[in-house]
Amino acid sequence: MEYQKYFKYFSLLTISACLFYLLFTNHYVLILDSLRLPFTNQSTTKPLFSNITLTINQTNDSILELSPRKTEFQNRVSDYYPRLPIHIFNQNVSLIGNTSKLILLGNGFFGSRDWGIAVPGRSSTQKMTSLFCPFLSDRCDITTDLDRFTEADAVVYHMRDSIDQNRATQKRHPKQRFVFALWESPPHTPNLQSYNQFFNWTMTFRFDSHILTSYYSGNAYVHTSSPFYQTMLHENITRKLNLTTITKDHRPSDTILEKKKLGIAAALISNCGGSSKRIAFINELKRYIDVKIYGRCGLSCPSNTNCREFIAENYYFILSFENSLCQDYTTEKFFAALEHPIVPIVLGLTNYSYFIPSSGFIDTNQFSTMITLARHLNESRHNKEKYLSYFSWKKDYVWGLHNFFSPFCDLCLRLHLDSKPNVIDNIHKWWFDNTCQTAQVPP
Ligand SMILES: *[C@@H]1O[C@H](CO)[C@@H](O)[C@H](O)[C@H]1NC(C)=O
Ligand SMILES: *[C@@H]1O[C@H](CO)[C@@H](O)[C@H](O)[C@H]1NC(C)=O
Ligand SMILES: *[C@@H]1O[C@H](CO)[C@@H](O)[C@H](O)[C@H]1NC(C)=O
Ligand SMILES: *[C@@H]1O[C@H](CO)[C@@H](O)[C@H](O)[C@H]1NC(C)=O
Ligand SMILES: *[C@@H]1O[C@H](CO)[C@@H](O)[C@H](O)[C@H]1NC(C)=O
Ligand SMILES: *[C@@H]1O[C@H](CO)[C@@H](O)[C@H](O)[C@H]1NC(C)=O
Ligand SMILES: *[C@@H]1O[C@H](CO)[C@@H](O)[C@H](O)[C@H]1NC(C)=O
Ligand SMILES: *[C@@H]1O[C@H](CO)[C@@H](O)[C@H](O)[C@H]1NC(C)=O
Ligand SMILES: *[C@@H]1O[C@H](CO)[C@@H](O)[C@H](O)[C@H]1NC(C)=O
Ligand SMILES: *[C@@H]1O[C@H](CO)[C@@H](O)[C@H](O)[C@H]1NC(C)=O
Ligand SMILES: *[C@@H]1O[C@H](CO)[C@@H](O)[C@H](O)[C@H]1NC(C)=O
Repeated sequence: MEYQKYFKYFSLLTISACLFYLLFTNHYVLILDSLRLPFTNQSTTKPLFSNITLTINQTNDSILELSPRKTEFQNRVSDYYPRLPIHIFNQNVSLIGNTSKLILLGNGFFGSRDWGIAVPGRSSTQKMTSLFCPFLSDRCDITTDLDRFTEADAVVYHMRDSIDQNRATQKRHPKQRFVFALWESPPHTPNLQSYNQFFNWTMTFRFDSHILTSYYSGNAYVHTSSPFYQTMLHENITRKLNLTTITKDHRPSDTILEKKKLGIAAALISNCGGSSKRIAFINELKRYIDVKIYGRCGLSCPSNTNCREFIAENYYFILSFENSLCQDYTTEKFFAALEHPIVPIVLGLTNYSYFIPSSGFIDTNQFSTMITLARHLNESRHNKEKYLSYFSWKKDYVWGLHNFFSPFCDLCLRLHLDSKPNVIDNIHKWWFDNTCQTAQVPP
């Protein structure tokens, strides 16, 4: 579809969505959201999406921009993590066209040919439902069948598995998107110099990717008032999906608080090296307060216990330190901690308040000396009200509704919505240049 038509289409779509919203319930909303909406908390029940306009910047890549009425969007919540960069949870998907896009998995995922998501014999509905976007059931299909190469709208390559580049180059046609998919940090990525002008889109944890994905395979957290959650509840009923969410309270009860006796903070570390100097950091912090290391580089957790759970029950803070300090690189060290009644202390090259409110974690970056960090931890540990305030954001979230490959829902949407051609000139440079740092341990 050419651009003009596309734009007209969206103006119409936006207007219909607004009307729809006003006329019906808020199950029927259209949300287009940009990648970089700031996090703020929600303290309003005003309709959020009744007055949206879409602006499309043709010169750069951000063709889906929302220019909201400021007063309303200042009160938006980070409604879903790992989040969809294009939030269109629209019940009436006929509005995005009645075509279906074909996604071809161009190679394997660590040797698994179907990545666990394109299982032969499954219908597109089953595939999209397992990815938690049943509303895209007949809008995309995912295949591993290389005979359908020319038919594919996108060919996704996992950069840790082998790629037949020559064959791909010969077979590709100009309308197709080749997608660069990667979950590891740059130090664990092979050289990419042979891929100049090979890829069209990126699918990584970097916030500036076309499809934002996450390293984390556990549970996403979803704001209960978010359109995504409301949509999923609706889908659950209309499609009889039998969805389950995790209702466990991830905040500490009084009983748990009383149990936290082993110390102030602990870390769970399996890889004793890493460029972030996290062990050196912890050793320095130990000079001021009591910190323990569990895992391969330290103490063992009691047998038959989940180590992270054990730490959460016995300590106040968990040191969620990444082993590489690379742009936006954030792993289960952080995300998994959120599923437990413990406060994460973070060390990483990420703006963590993109993921959760800044009231929910302690960022070592904000402390210029070790002693001020130590004092802050000690004070928070001794002040129950202060300590509990780190958890207050969790009361509005449910956990679940996520699959490691759920970002394929975004890929599907983007294939429908982003008609702008794009060629990535030098992916090696994008991925490697100035993206990682070596850590400084504060004095
Ligand atoms: C981090 O993100 C928050 C919310 O999006 C923003 O307010 C803040 O300025 C960012 N911080 C930095 C250092 O970029
Ligand atoms: C949420 O909003 C309320 C009211 O505006 C404010 O008092 C509170 O500090 C905010 N919390 C966060 C996490 O921003
Ligand atoms: C939408 O925003 C415009 C400009 O801010 C305003 O004039 C108009 O009244 C708003 N419409 C609705 C339905 O809120
Ligand atoms: C692309 O354009 C949008 C809208 O004008 C702007 O907000 C964004 O920062 C730009 N992105 C880049 C990478 O230049
Ligand atoms: C669109 O993006 C380009 C490149 O980032 C930027 O220079 C330009 O100002 C943007 N246009 C608008 C209208 O924001
Ligand atoms: C969806 O939108 C189309 C086009 O606007 C309309 O004809 C159709 O009735 C709508 N379907 C539902 C279920 O609302
Ligand atoms: C999709 O819409 C077009 C134009 O409205 C129509 O000709 C076509 O039959 C539709 N296809 C399907 C599968 O519904
Ligand atoms: C949901 O549960 C009902 C009743 O147990 C069953 O009939 C139905 O097939 C289930 N649906 C799915 C999608 O598994
Ligand atoms: C989904 O629907 C089933 C059957 O109606 C219900 O038991 C379940 O609680 C629902 N899931 C959610 C998350 O509401
Ligand atoms: C921690 O705080 C408690 C209570 O405020 C205080 O008694 C103690 O001396 C502090 N310990 C350290 C190591 O600062
Ligand atoms: C994708 O990249 C290839 C190779 O650079 C290019 O020929 C093609 O036009 C691009 N396709 C799109 C849709 O951007």
